[in-house]
Amino acid sequence: MTMLTPGISPQETAGPTTTQGGPSLPQEIRLVTEVPGPRSKELAARRSSAVSAAVGSSMPFFAHAAGGGVVVDVDGNSFADLGSGIAVTTVGNSAPAVVEAVTEQAARFTHTCFMITPYDSYVELAERLAELTPGDFAKKSAFFTSGAEAVENAVKIARAHTGRQAVVVFDHAYHGRTNLTMAMTAKNMPYKNGFGPFAPEVYRAPLSYPFRDGLDGPTAAARAIAVMEKQVGAANLAAIVVEPVQGEGGFIVPAPGFLPAIAAWARENGVVFVADEVQTGVARTGAWFASALEGVEPDLVTIAKGVAGGLPLSAVTGRAEIVDAPVTGGLGGTYGGNPLATAAALAVLRTVEDEGLLERARRIEELLFRRLRALAERDPRVGDVRGRGAMVAVELVKPGTTEPDAALAKKVATEAAQRGVIVLTCGTDGNVLRFLPPLSIGDALLEQAFDVLDGVFAAG
Ligand SMILES: Cc1ncc(COP(=O)(O)O)c(C=O)c1O
Repeated sequence: MTMLTPGISPQETAGPTTTQGGPSLPQEIRLVTEVPGPRSKELAARRSSAVSAAVGSSMPFFAHAAGGGVVVDVDGNSFADLGSGIAVTTVGNSAPAVVEAVTEQAARFTHTCFMITPYDSYVELAERLAELTPGDFAKKSAFFTSGAEAVENAVKIARAHTGRQAVVVFDHAYHGRTNLTMAMTAKNMPYKNGFGPFAPEVYRAPLSYPFRDGLDGPTAAARAIAVMEKQVGAANLAAIVVEPVQGEGGFIVPAPGFLPAIAAWARENGVVFVADEVQTGVARTGAWFASALEGVEPDLVTIAKGVAGGLPLSAVTGRAEIVDAPVTGGLGGTYGGNPLATAAALAVLRTVEDEGLLERARRIEELLFRRLRALAERDPRVGDVRGRGAMVAVELVKPGTTEPDAALAKKVATEAAQRGVIVLTCGTDGNVLRFLPPLSIGDALLEQAFDVLDGVFAAG
């Protein structure tokens, strides 16, 4: 059976017609089999015998190539990518500069371990991140592999610097899946369920969530500060860790003034203010880092995902005197700042500049808001449209209420995949559809993807 997307002509093909990814792939939604197709089904059967059932996948098809704004599956179907592998391929999948830098580096050496024999790209990347993160003060960096590892290390650094232990995080926060970051993450299912006991000395404060609390930023900040003062005590508090726009928690944008008030209180009380920019960082929100959009200069910034175009790299970048606090050898890891990943990251940063991708993220924001606000006007199940740059979401509710509708979010994401569009869900209640296209996607493909989504919503 051949599934057709409206307006897209069928192509008979026995499988992928390309072995190359990158921007040279045709930038179109094109379905040539049902989804999943026969090759994906065959791989799914093998997967179910060989891969842990605890590792899930949102999409039912297997990837073959990707680039620009599309992912092509092993059956030759081409999907519009509104997920970027969870906000990672910001400069595009297999972006030419990244491929070239990694290929060149791989041919010279793949690993020495920076803790054994250092190399220049690690140093250069630290210099670049010092320039690009908010704040005109001396900064240093340390590199790791995953976002969770960066968050853990930010806490280690803050504890070493302050001699204090407590950490404050917020409602709906997502910081990772390691033991400490599970404690910091809010949502139980599936991230924490059955995995306790969790790390101690982690406290949760209320976030600013304009759609649900109706509070202005300073009022919401005062509410959070009261919790910190009464339930933790500033003298015990090493760090406040906050996502400038919450990612997995539902793309919640705090009301203006919330983040600056929390950051000011942290400074007054000698608490390290950590912006977890793992999802928001590196051009995703139309700024190099989303903290800058609120005029906040974090003491430490955690960076991962989009920074290295898909190679595993994360960073803690921040005030030099804070990052220097742990004993020498206290930070590190075999693969932290691996040379392939640091080469990729330098190419990513160059690509953002060369291709004007900050500006591109702002243009994408306009397109996403236009399409989603029009949808919200027609469909009362869209309760809120929010986000920044190419990080925008809709919160789905039962019409006329703010009651979350997780079933609808799941249904739309599933149906969109059947029609050739990759869309992810998020939110503590699972009722948020989030849009995170690569900045290399073209307007025509984006419009086409939103035509498909409009059709999915219209169908019920
Ligand atoms: C804000 C934030 N922090 C930390 C993490 C954890 O990153 P990783 O999955 O690379 O460990 C994520 C991942 O989604 C995130 O969005």
